[in-house]
Amino acid sequence: MKITVPATSANIGPGFDSVGVALSKYLTIEVLEASDSWFIEHDLGADIPSDERNLLLDVALKIKSDLQPHHLKMISDIPLARGLGSSSSVIVAGIELANQLGQLNLTADQKLDLATEIEGHPDNVAPAIFGNLVVASYVDQKVNSIVADFPKSSFIAFIPNYELKTSDSRGVLPSELSYKEAVAASSIANVAIAALFAGDLEKAGQAIQGDMFHERYRQKLVKEFATIKEIGQENGAYATYLSGAGPTVMVLAPKSVEVAIKEKIDALGLDGESFLLNVDKEGVVVVD
Ligand code: HSE
Repeated sequence: MKITVPATSANIGPGFDSVGVALSKYLTIEVLEASDSWFIEHDLGADIPSDERNLLLDVALKIKSDLQPHHLKMISDIPLARGLGSSSSVIVAGIELANQLGQLNLTADQKLDLATEIEGHPDNVAPAIFGNLVVASYVDQKVNSIVADFPKSSFIAFIPNYELKTSDSRGVLPSELSYKEAVAASSIANVAIAALFAGDLEKAGQAIQGDMFHERYRQKLVKEFATIKEIGQENGAYATYLSGAGPTVMVLAPKSVEVAIKEKIDALGLDGESFLLNVDKEGVVVVD
């Protein structure tokens, strides 16, 4: 059995902690033979445990503590701590592992409830479960979510060669916004979501770049952001935003200009790599 979970790009400007899209990078968990003890084969580095201390098994065994141990193989091209939902993909895979091995028959909404409780916010785990664009709230321990197609668009991701921990990136955010600022920030978010749902990427792009919740505080942590945004603006992109808590910089653009934008980013010779990504429409998938 194989469990596949997509990468995710959260926030998309003003959808802070609430909006995310599934993208075409993947975590795959291969479930091999049953065994006396758990063992995860991976080449993700010595810092990633191969036993029950791994987040995958920590989550799976939290959901069902008496699962039959198996040998597993973990393969991922979602880089760690880069704002592409790597830990959310592992959480969703852990829930699915428990679901499959424990025959729990969880619905997608039940998986989302569990994943959100573990992760603390739904913006990465929701698209990792459902695929596509997901708008979700998590208030008073209650999750509410809507899944929609993302309008036809290219995602050009610049992934820097350094990590930015979500906790550090959240550390630069203010503890409060004034009532006036909150109303303005939320009106911009409303337009961003309405425009995405209406398929108007020009208007969505303006609203995405108008975010008042997090990007203005975080931009200083990602030195490549301003230059890439300028390239986007000069080459017909809809918007440039910080993916999740960063440091990945995401350019949303019409397909016709994606290669030109990628080449211009590459020509800067920045310390990192750029990728052309597509929207994943499946979310978590299990293949026997
Ligand atoms: N919404 C989260 C943040 C995503 O921006 O901090 C990262 O987990």
